[in-house]
Amino acid sequence: MVDAAAMVFPSPAPVPGLPAMVSVYEVGPRDGLQAEKAVLPTEVKLEFIHRLQQAGLRSIEATSFVSPRWVPQLADADELMAGLARQGSVRYPVLVPNERGYDRARAAGAEEIAVFVSATERFARENLGTTRSGALELAAPVVRRALADGVAVRGYVSMCFGDPWEGRVDPAQAAAVAGRLVELGCRTVSLGDTIGVATAGQVVEVLDAVTAAGVRRDQIALHFHDTYGQALTNVLAGLHAGITEFDASAGGLGGCPYAKSATGNLATEDLVWLLTGLGIDTGIDLTVLVCTSVWMAEQLGRPSPSRVVAALASGAGIDPPAPAAGR
Ligand code: HMG
Ligand code: MG
Repeated sequence: MVDAAAMVFPSPAPVPGLPAMVSVYEVGPRDGLQAEKAVLPTEVKLEFIHRLQQAGLRSIEATSFVSPRWVPQLADADELMAGLARQGSVRYPVLVPNERGYDRARAAGAEEIAVFVSATERFARENLGTTRSGALELAAPVVRRALADGVAVRGYVSMCFGDPWEGRVDPAQAAAVAGRLVELGCRTVSLGDTIGVATAGQVVEVLDAVTAAGVRRDQIALHFHDTYGQALTNVLAGLHAGITEFDASAGGLGGCPYAKSATGNLATEDLVWLLTGLGIDTGIDLTVLVCTSVWMAEQLGRPSPSRVVAALASGAGIDPPAPAAGR
């Protein structure tokens, strides 16, 4: 166990003009685990989700109903949903690529979904086997059916800032796709820096373009990966621009199986440390969260890449696990 008393939390120093509260949208069980080499047993994934909800996370993307041939790590989505010990205040959205995925998700009891498209042509092909507009066509009937069923829909736009094959992405491309997702009826659009190349000025540029396409700031979430260590700086740029929802992954799990240069998502612990330091309420207990990530690192047999997890765990006398052979 991590000794809570040994932890030193950041001293809150609020900055005028920033929000009092921020929603943290946890993607570890989906975005994180889909990219791990190890395929974890369903019971371990369930324990992960249950620990996350104990830590105070209120939006936990639980799994995805994609082709098990494309993402074998999450092939147990139906079983996982059946095993969830749901808490009334927690939302468990799931990722859905097409109508087949929507049928499976609903049969498994999903009450909230996320569709995903790409700002670039090449990633639409790599990730969904289609084109940019083809991805929107796959998403459209899913969103329509979800709205008719009273199911809330989030829309992801990947590669909003840079693409490993196409290079820098014109903000107008991200804006056009995000605008279309909102037109279709997505409640939130999450703008993804899938390979973690975004810089703070670019965040402002993309947000301005997306807003000009008719998307309100309160409909936008930001999804950063931390490849170049810029994720927190980018969050700060987003906060100053009025964004109040950020995606993150406990312990910095993740990457993307179809974008080889993507490393882990922004770690939830790093995000919570920043927000707590700014006096922004997240409702998350950092101690419970760090304990969860230390436990998950043991399941995966490698240390968490999160600086906050490493610092708090070692401050409490916990050695992160050494990488295990064969995993
Ligand atoms: P496909 O192979 O091009 O198309 O896959 P298909 O329609 O010909 O289907 C092939 C087989 O898959 C068929 O089975 C279908 O029935 C089956 P077969 O007849 O050969 O036995 N199939 C399905 N099975 C289960 N569930 C389904 C489903 N759909 C078809 N829903 C497809 C097209 C869209 C299915 C595939 O490309 C796919 O599953 N892609 C998902 C890839 C993925 O999950 N990527 C990671 C998530 S995105 C991400 O991480 C980015 C994000 O985090 C934000 C960011 O960072 O930017 C969101
Ligand atoms: Mg991602």
